Amino acid sequence: MTIQGFNVAAWDLAKAHKPEHFVLDRVVRPNILSLKPYRCARDDYQEGVLLDANENALGPSLGEQRINSFLDLHRYPDPGLFGTRAAVTALRHLPDPAYTFLGVGSDEVIDLLQRCFARPGKEKILICPPTYGMYSVCAAVNDLDIVQIPLLTQEGKFALDTPAVLAALEADPSIRLVFICSPGNPTGTLISLEDVRAVLDCAAFEGLVVVDEAYIDFALAEQTQGKKHGNEPISAIELVPEYENLVVSQTLSKSFGLAGIRMGLAFSQPRVIQVMNNTKAPYSISTPTAFYASQALSESGLSMMRTNVDTLVANRNALLQALATIPALGAVLGANDANFVLVPVLDAPHGKPDSQRAAQVYKNMAEHSGVVVRDRSKELGCAGCLRISVGTAEENEQCIALLRAQLA
Ligand SMILES: Cc1ncc(COP(=O)(O)O)c(C=O)c1O
Repeated sequence: MTIQGFNVAAWDLAKAHKPEHFVLDRVVRPNILSLKPYRCARDDYQEGVLLDANENALGPSLGEQRINSFLDLHRYPDPGLFGTRAAVTALRHLPDPAYTFLGVGSDEVIDLLQRCFARPGKEKILICPPTYGMYSVCAAVNDLDIVQIPLLTQEGKFALDTPAVLAALEADPSIRLVFICSPGNPTGTLISLEDVRAVLDCAAFEGLVVVDEAYIDFALAEQTQGKKHGNEPISAIELVPEYENLVVSQTLSKSFGLAGIRMGLAFSQPRVIQVMNNTKAPYSISTPTAFYASQALSESGLSMMRTNVDTLVANRNALLQALATIPALGAVLGANDANFVLVPVLDAPHGKPDSQRAAQVYKNMAEHSGVVVRDRSKELGCAGCLRISVGTAEENEQCIALLRAQLA
C-alpha cells in the first residue's frame, strides 16, 4: 500500500531499501497507513485575503505590549516554518528536508513513534535501563508492553548488551520499537554505532530502531576538538541514508538552550517521515517556536550554540574535578558525554553507595539551600547516585560547596 502524500516518483525506493528484511508497510499500524491526512486551504494558498481558517481578522489580543506582533500571531503557522526544516536538515548533512520531522519536543517524537508503529494492547517496545523515563510513560499511554534489557553496568560503564537485545528480538516478534539513548540519560554514555548497526541488521526484528540523541552535540563538540571519541562517527545520523528502519531523534532543548520553545527533531528516510507527518496534529509547531528555531539555526545562532556547548563541557570538567575532592562521593559513573554527571553518595563507614543518604542530601540541598539536583539512586546500576546538570561556573561552585557541607 502507498503512504498517503508520499511522492513515490521523487525517491529511488530501491536504494532506500536496506536492510532487506525491513518492510515498512508491515510495521505501520494499518489505520495509520490508510489515514487521509488533514488538509486545509493554506496547503495550497498562503497569501491574499485569508478568509479560509476562521482566524481572528482583528489580530492578536496581546495588551499594550503587542510583543511579537510581527509574527502574525492571529494566523495559523505558515507550513514553511521559516525554513526551519531545511535548516535542520542542512545542519545534520542529510540530503533533503523530507528526511526531517519537527515535533513538539522530542517527547512528541517518542510518543508519535509509538502511536504510528506499535499496536496498542498487542505489541511492545524494548528499552535498556537505566534510561530516559518517557519511553515507559508513553508506552503506558499507548498501552504497549515493555521488554527491558538492562545496559551492562559493571564498573560504572554503561554498554548495550547487544547479544541479549538480539536474543530478545529473536524470541519476541511483537517488539516493534527499540529505544537506544546515546548519550544516555542518566548514563551520559555513548552507545557505539557498531552496536546500533547490529540491532538494525537483526533479521528477526521487523520494527524500527530509535536512537535518542538529545545530548549528541556535547559529544560531537569534544570529538571536533580532538579530545574524545577518535575519528569514527558517533552520531547515528550517519546511518540514516543507509537504513530505512532507523529513526534518530534530537532536540533544541539541550545544546541550543531552547527547552522553553519545545522543538524536537526526528531524522529518518522519507517514507517513515511521511507517516509521522500524516499522523501529527496540523500546525503543531507554533509560530513563535518556529521563529526562535530559525534564529537558533542561523549562522550566529549556531556559533553561539557551539560556544555555549564548549563552555558547558569546560564547566563539566571543572565540576568533575571538584567532585573528585569530596571524600564521601564515589567515582562518577558513565563516560560524561553530556551536560550532566552521575555521582554516587557513599555511606560513612564502608564507602559503599548509599541510596538513603543520597535521597537525604537531595532533599536537604533543595529544601534548605534551593539547589535542586536529581536523585537517581533507584535507577538500575545507579545505587546512591545523584545526577547533577552542569550549570554556570558560579552555580557549580555553589553546588560543590553545598555537597561538601552536607557530606562533611
Ligand atoms: C534522553 C532524552 N530524550 C528526550 C528528552 C526530551 O527532550 P525534549 O525537551 O526535546 O522533549 C530528554 C529530556 O530530558 C532526554 O533526556
